[in-house]
Amino acid sequence: MLYVNSLRVPAVAERVRKEFADILETDAGRLAEQIALAEMLQAVGRGWYEELAPHLRQRAEELTGVTPPTPPPERDPDMTVPPPRATVATKGSEETVRLSSRRLVMRGPEAGDIDWVTTELQDLEIQRNTTVPSPYARADAERFVRNANTGQRTKFIITESGQRAGAISLHMHDKRAPSIGYWIGKAARGRGIATEAVTRVCRWGFEDLGLPIITWSAKVGNEASRAVAAKAGFQMEGTLRLRSMSQGALRDCWVGSLLPHELRDIP
Ligand SMILES: CC(C)(COP(=O)(O)OP(=O)(O)OC[C@H]1O[C@@H](n2cnc3c(N)ncnc32)[C@H](O)[C@@H]1OP(=O)(O)O)[C@@H](O)C(=O)NCCC(=O)NCCS
Repeated sequence: MLYVNSLRVPAVAERVRKEFADILETDAGRLAEQIALAEMLQAVGRGWYEELAPHLRQRAEELTGVTPPTPPPERDPDMTVPPPRATVATKGSEETVRLSSRRLVMRGPEAGDIDWVTTELQDLEIQRNTTVPSPYARADAERFVRNANTGQRTKFIITESGQRAGAISLHMHDKRAPSIGYWIGKAARGRGIATEAVTRVCRWGFEDLGLPIITWSAKVGNEASRAVAAKAGFQMEGTLRLRSMSQGALRDCWVGSLLPHELRDIP
């Protein structure tokens, strides 16, 4: 699975393919790779791993000589976030959730955010510490806005007095362990904005979506992210080796989780 994930960055895929050539280039290895690719392509049909799809198709074609069909979109009711009971604003035919807290308003990303997101995500601290593409291009910001609200993922732009401060998202890819991710633009850091946003989004997750747990992970050494999570009430669980990918490399990460009764009030 790690290998298939690495296909998103061709240079990394090449490196992993060389490193594990002994295994991947056996009959069993090739078969296992084809099965993994077929499963991932099915998941693409359910709206997951969209950014991986071109690489998955290309690799499947290399292995089998056949262009995989684009599966029709499926609906998997178990994987869909229940409709939120929070304030819901309707934008066109899409529902976007809007949350507010003491100082902040969190709203769905819009086309007008693309330039700002592109500029902020040139910050190497964000590229190093999150799973955003690196280097980060305008097309990545366009994709961020386009895929903000997919049912498996809800993304918010964090604003303070109408000014954009950062972004936060709740990922529902693993329905047993939804996860939270966030970044704050350089100019807005150090004023408790991340803590307030994480606390508010987790409350929405528990109270409005009925989530039983929310998970958090950060690259080992990301003390700022750990401080934010701990202040919101997340309990640290340990370190997973080489379990996340950022800037094209696999990294060790800290993991933690939050149960509804552990969520702290906004400081
Ligand atoms: C991590 C990040 C979101 C924190 O945003 P922020 O709005 O500055 O965080 P807060 O102001 O809410 O800080 C919360 C706590 O973290 C502490 N903190 C902030 N930066 C820290 C650092 N570099 N080292 C240790 N603690 C730090 C603060 O002191 C604060 O604790 P305090 O209130 O007891 O003083 C921001 O630094 C960022 O975007 N970093 C790059 C992207 C990233 O790492 N995202 C998380 C990926 S898991």
